[in-house]
Amino acid sequence: MGTRLLLCNPFFKMRKYLIFFGKYRRAVLLAPALVIIDVFCEIVQPEMMSKIVDNGVMNKNLSYILQTGGIMVGLSLIAIVANVGNIYYSSHASVGFAAELRKAMFIKIQEFSFSNLDRFTSSSLVTRLTNDVNIVQEVIMMSLRLLIRAPLMLLFAVIIAIRINSSLATIIAVAIPVLSVCIYMILRRGLPFFEQVQKRLDKVNAVIQENLVNVRVVKSFVREDFEKKKFGRSNDELREMAVKASSMVVLIMPVMQLVMNISIVAIVWFGGNKIISGEFQVGQLMSFVTYITQILMSLMMLSMVIMTFSRAEASSERILEVLDAKIDVVDSPEAAEQDLTVRQGKVVFENVFFKYFPDSTEYVLKDISFAVSPGEIVAVIGATGSAKSTLVELIPRLYDVTRGRILVDDVDVRDYTLQHLRAGISLVLQQNDLFSGTIRENLKWGNMRATDEEIVAAAKDAQAHDFIMSFPLQYETVLGQSGVNISGGQKQRLCIARAILRKPAILIMDDSTSAVDMSTEAKIRSSFSQHLRQTTIIIIAQRISSIQSAKKIILLDNGAIIGTGTHDELIAGNAVYKEIYYSQELKDAPAA
Ligand SMILES: Nc1ncnc2c1ncn2[C@@H]1O[C@H](COP(=O)(O)OP(=O)(O)O)[C@@H](O)[C@H]1O
Ligand SMILES: [Mg+2]
Repeated sequence: MGTRLLLCNPFFKMRKYLIFFGKYRRAVLLAPALVIIDVFCEIVQPEMMSKIVDNGVMNKNLSYILQTGGIMVGLSLIAIVANVGNIYYSSHASVGFAAELRKAMFIKIQEFSFSNLDRFTSSSLVTRLTNDVNIVQEVIMMSLRLLIRAPLMLLFAVIIAIRINSSLATIIAVAIPVLSVCIYMILRRGLPFFEQVQKRLDKVNAVIQENLVNVRVVKSFVREDFEKKKFGRSNDELREMAVKASSMVVLIMPVMQLVMNISIVAIVWFGGNKIISGEFQVGQLMSFVTYITQILMSLMMLSMVIMTFSRAEASSERILEVLDAKIDVVDSPEAAEQDLTVRQGKVVFENVFFKYFPDSTEYVLKDISFAVSPGEIVAVIGATGSAKSTLVELIPRLYDVTRGRILVDDVDVRDYTLQHLRAGISLVLQQNDLFSGTIRENLKWGNMRATDEEIVAAAKDAQAHDFIMSFPLQYETVLGQSGVNISGGQKQRLCIARAILRKPAILIMDDSTSAVDMSTEAKIRSSFSQHLRQTTIIIIAQRISSIQSAKKIILLDNGAIIGTGTHDELIAGNAVYKEIYYSQELKDAPAA
């Protein structure tokens, strides 16, 4: 706790953020420089005021009053300009910093592998990129305004006060430690509450985001009441803690007032005696009171900075977690050197083992070996959870194998750059999504150079052209929140069209026609066999009828291959396959 109060922790972390100031170096340097000017102009004012009183007013010297007053007005004007400049540069620097930080996080997230993404939910990434960055931005703004100002003010005010009258300054020597200890004790009790507030705020955010993402599920299950209660609970917890935290902090204000008033009374008492004995002048007493006010205010400002820092710590932690995340799927140095591209589309698995977590005991894929020749169509079939998706996700290195290797065109996939490997492979994921925008934009998204003819051809092959043309705006139809909603099957067909538009050497479809009716699916198959002869196609399917005609069917069970062959071979020789087939066809197996 002590170390946190000393700010070591958050300050140390700030060093990691320094690079994001790069472009705003000038603003970052100017802001504190202007603070110094501002502080200087402000700090001499009470002393000049005291001179006006003691020298000008007491001696009835009008020209001295006017002259000194003029200088004071001039200094005030400079102070105002410096202050406005400081606000300008502090906001400039902090807003710019936040933009750079967001950009860096965004770029980093783009590089995330699937296992990196498994560790962060997308709603938490949104919070980190928006809310957390905002909080750190505020801290930067505040630091550029107050972090130098408060200690500088404190230091100057103390020095001047001692110069005015060192024996009166002993009051300051008592007031500063008293107030510091009070603030320290309040913060020590209050800061843990603030940490709790932040944690509970996170929980409320999580509930909100989860609920909004799944709002349709909530409605269809009529669970609104349940969700309302859940939200209400975390909202109440947040409120209770926030009240506790702020009731600790509001204590700072009256305590400071008390210390300040006692100090002023002491100054007036001792100072008054000194005036009577002629050691001290009225103006000096006035300025002394002003300086002690400034000193104590600076202390309070510092405590506010400390508070903001500690509240931002959790946010900073979460931001750094993203920035420091180790990306586990990256280009090897050799890959960049060799600069190979995928051309033919041959795929070979050699004794591949895979598990999602290094420390899990069981492999998700066990000793997988098979080969697919260029232009061949291979089907993968198996129960849910048999690791079909996992298997195909290893080919474009969405995850890396744990043991064994995967070759594409006789080259280990890890010897390609990710860019080239993935350019050669189109994977239609099981959960695939489109972006908001027109149909044409969505299709071109995977291949910006595609011509209109190519777009139409791909849409025809995916059996999407006809329904696209049935929309009034055809290819210009806007999808997404502000546009039309399309059915699951239509969406799947657009995803397939988007994938083949990239003209990959290898096309992988992970259960991509599950929502497409059987006859449309058959049409997709037949246009593939006509137009995608050169393409190696790996299809994962639930229904055997979808892949019955494939030359090679791989049957997976619990992460292992338990059969390979044509449909007829498997029916004849594989009991599991036979069982799946007849259960799907709702036919009784012919008596053996
Ligand atoms: N991202 C993941 N992290 C951890 N385990 C996973 C992940 N994805 C899948 N699994 C697990 O791996 C196994 C195989 O899943 P999956 O490949 O999706 O099977 P299928 O596609 O055949 O339904 C399942 O036990 C599943 O729970
Ligand atoms: Mg799957």
